Amino acid sequence: MLVRGGRLLNRLVENDFIRRVSFETYRDKVRDVYDGPQGAILATCSKLSLHEPLMERLLRDHKFDLRGAKTILDVGSGAGQILKHLMRFADRDACITGIDLSHKMLLRARQRLRGRRPQLSVGDITQLPFADDTFDCVTCGYVIEHLPDARHGLAEMARVLRPGGRMLLLTSEDNFGGAWTSRLWRCRTYNRRELFKLCHDLGLDWRRELWFSPVHKVLRAGGICVEIERRG
Ligand SMILES: C[S@@+](CC[C@H](N)C(=O)[O-])C[C@H]1O[C@@H](n2cnc3c(N)ncnc32)[C@H](O)[C@@H]1O
Repeated sequence: MLVRGGRLLNRLVENDFIRRVSFETYRDKVRDVYDGPQGAILATCSKLSLHEPLMERLLRDHKFDLRGAKTILDVGSGAGQILKHLMRFADRDACITGIDLSHKMLLRARQRLRGRRPQLSVGDITQLPFADDTFDCVTCGYVIEHLPDARHGLAEMARVLRPGGRMLLLTSEDNFGGAWTSRLWRCRTYNRRELFKLCHDLGLDWRRELWFSPVHKVLRAGGICVEIERRG
């Protein structure tokens, strides 16, 4: 009874815009949001919500192990929140590429990251401009919640990941915290079991569910964070 009430409340709070629109409308909406003032404060929000420092810990402590990955793609790089850590914790000779739908976000990432590494380009998660089996590793933080349907993005990431390659996927979960995130950023949330099944059907096997800290695990906070392997 209590659980059902909670789910209903989450559904009422959650913004359902993205579940109703076409892919074209969704792309316009993403550019509207991220090219504008919300995109400008994204990096600060990531610091305040501790997403950026917690992500650093996850990679620094090898909870998601980047060692040995020579080609790494970060999808939906935003202000470079994950790229920044990839540059520090990936192998020195790793080739790191970032891609985002918003040109403005890539400019912000470039300013924040300085230097020429990594390579950045405009691109869409549903039509990645790379050949099959290109990457040893793909990271994708808080992007698929912007898609009306995750299938297209996940299928593309599976395609460019080599068999046996690993993915770090983070997204908003269908709980109270996720519902508020969805309201703030006009995105959607995912149910953990449904996302697991969707990945499995696309040849993406969940290896480990990760948590930023034991507190996050107890409170089910921070969203879905999972290490995935592409089936060989
Ligand atoms: C919440 S930010 C995430 C930034 C960063 N990955 C992180 O972990 O904080 C979402 C980013 O995804 C990008 N994005 C949304 N839809 C996309 C798509 N179809 N293809 C590529 N990037 C997309 C947005 O432009 C935005 O920069």
